[in-house]
Amino acid sequence: MTISLEIVHPRRRPPMICRGCVIEGKLPGSACRTEFGSAVAPCLYHFVDSRMSEHSTTSNQGSQLAKESESDGYFISAEGRKGDHDRLNIQHQMWNLLMNGPCPISDVELDDLLKPGPPNDSVPTVLDIGSGSGIWSFEIARAYPHAKVTGFDVAPFHSTNALDNFSFIQGNLLDGLQQFYDQFDLVHIRTVLLHIKSDKQSWAIEEFIRCLRPGGLIILSDWDEIFLDEFGQRLPAARDDDKPEAQGTWMLRIFNEMFAREDGPESVMRFRVRDALLDNKRIDKETIKAVVYRMPVGWDGGNLNIENGDALGRLSRIDLMDGFEKAKPLLRMRGISEEVIRQWEQHSDDETSARSRRAVTRLHSTWARALKLE
Ligand SMILES: C[S@@+](CC[C@H](N)C(=O)[O-])C[C@H]1O[C@@H](n2cnc3c(N)ncnc32)[C@H](O)[C@@H]1O
Repeated sequence: MTISLEIVHPRRRPPMICRGCVIEGKLPGSACRTEFGSAVAPCLYHFVDSRMSEHSTTSNQGSQLAKESESDGYFISAEGRKGDHDRLNIQHQMWNLLMNGPCPISDVELDDLLKPGPPNDSVPTVLDIGSGSGIWSFEIARAYPHAKVTGFDVAPFHSTNALDNFSFIQGNLLDGLQQFYDQFDLVHIRTVLLHIKSDKQSWAIEEFIRCLRPGGLIILSDWDEIFLDEFGQRLPAARDDDKPEAQGTWMLRIFNEMFAREDGPESVMRFRVRDALLDNKRIDKETIKAVVYRMPVGWDGGNLNIENGDALGRLSRIDLMDGFEKAKPLLRMRGISEEVIRQWEQHSDDETSARSRRAVTRLHSTWARALKLE
């Protein structure tokens, strides 16, 4: 099937490119397919295809989808989430570029953690909480075939890519994680905490930690919800009465609307994560480490010298524009008019293509070990 990009999103779509093309700077073609670890590449030709068919949303569907999504606080309904897997796979490529691999720790450290036999005297175990498309779980399950990898998500999981050492359990982490307590050598949570209300986040981190075996490793990676200008100045959320020369960013404004935040996040997520780890008696405080990544939005980062800046800039634009598209039903449910949505989309398009500003956003990873038994 030949896809005309114009049909889907006239003018506003970023170039439809798969990762191979992003990195090589090519436009897509039918031969453009790349293997991403276990999953077929989200060549955005196919990405668009899926959006046009069963997963595309209309304003009629909007309020129902949005209502369902309110039950776990996510911005896309549980059912609609399977249509979002291509975007999550794009995000996975962003993380892999930022971390130079699936985890912020070195391969040597990961190999040591997940090696077969002692010290665990059992099969190494990995829990991926909020596993989404399963792409991270698959990558780990492939790399460590002797390990047992469990994906857990509130949304149903569908895959034709079955792996013997991967299993999926559906559930809501807000109901508690008792079924996983004390069982895992590695507990991985990536861009999930962001979707948990801030008054529940410390409790959720405690739950994640309780899933660790003694000596096990927890890795929390997320977005900091911060946008900076190219000179490192933090940008406020745009306001409706802003003058054209105002500093505010529509990207942050739209995230505030999506997550129903009055005035943006008050504190930076990575500090909340660090503090929750520091406060937890099960964590070995000496092992807490964190890294912050900078990601240009729709440009290459210029003289900020961001490694893989060009690819990250392109991927972040695709991610943000598609995230906006997926959030439309929720915005409609909140009573935001089609005209306002159209204006926000135009602002997002201008910002994520670096036409109106050159912004940088930040992501972070924090990790630590559970104390070993005496
Ligand atoms: C942005 S996606 C990240 C997916 C995956 N961790 C990754 O990095 O590719 C967030 C995922 O968290 C899941 N999620 C959100 N709230 C949840 C909850 N309360 N319980 C379990 N999963 C949840 C969503 O369904 C979604 O799949």
